[in-house]
Amino acid sequence: MSDQNNIHPVFSQILNRSDKERFLNQKSKVVWFTGLSGAGKTTLARNVERELSKRGYLTQILDGDNIRSGINKNLGFTEVDRNENIRRISEVSRLFLDCGVICINSFISPTEEIRQMAMEIIGRKDFIEVFVNAPLEVCESRDTKGLYIKARKGEIKNFTGIDAPFEVPQTPDLEIRTDELPIEESTARVLEVILPEIRYD
Ligand code: ADX
Repeated sequence: MSDQNNIHPVFSQILNRSDKERFLNQKSKVVWFTGLSGAGKTTLARNVERELSKRGYLTQILDGDNIRSGINKNLGFTEVDRNENIRRISEVSRLFLDCGVICINSFISPTEEIRQMAMEIIGRKDFIEVFVNAPLEVCESRDTKGLYIKARKGEIKNFTGIDAPFEVPQTPDLEIRTDELPIEESTARVLEVILPEIRYD
């Protein structure tokens, strides 16, 4: 018998999700930013969080660099590890959803398969996919973390966009061209899509 048989998850708690949503006066959702490194996911997530907090919403940002220095510090950038990275993040997001909190996630999440898995774990109706898009040349010229230059020199392997794939999302709920729009406009467009979804009524 595997250890799994001895696990009895507690699904019915004293307060359930809708109790907590009422308590917080909001509907919980996961806003999932996908895009290349340097496309502007983290900046957009921070701006969206600031605007939501001004309006009284409780949010939690989950971000590649933070998660990978904590809960996922044992994972690298092979396809298998990226899958496991996103699987764990999706499960963590579900815990926040059940707590009534709006989750703002920024992960490259480079393939359709990975994003599909995230959507299935989280649930379609709670998952808002935002493609944060800037051309590779733009991300590379920004090179905010100095990683593209290292990837071009071969000092980092499996770097997304250089020697690892990024599949363009086919059916995002929203696409933001960060090289064409000022940050205020990008933030406003995200808010326009998510505010009706998180309003408690
Ligand atoms: S994901 O592909 O598994 O979704 P994630 O968003 O968690 O990636 O982490 C991406 C961040 O890790 C990048 O913004 C960058 O700072 C860093 N990083 C380090 N090595 C790589 C790599 N080989 N490919 C992409 N990002 C990398």
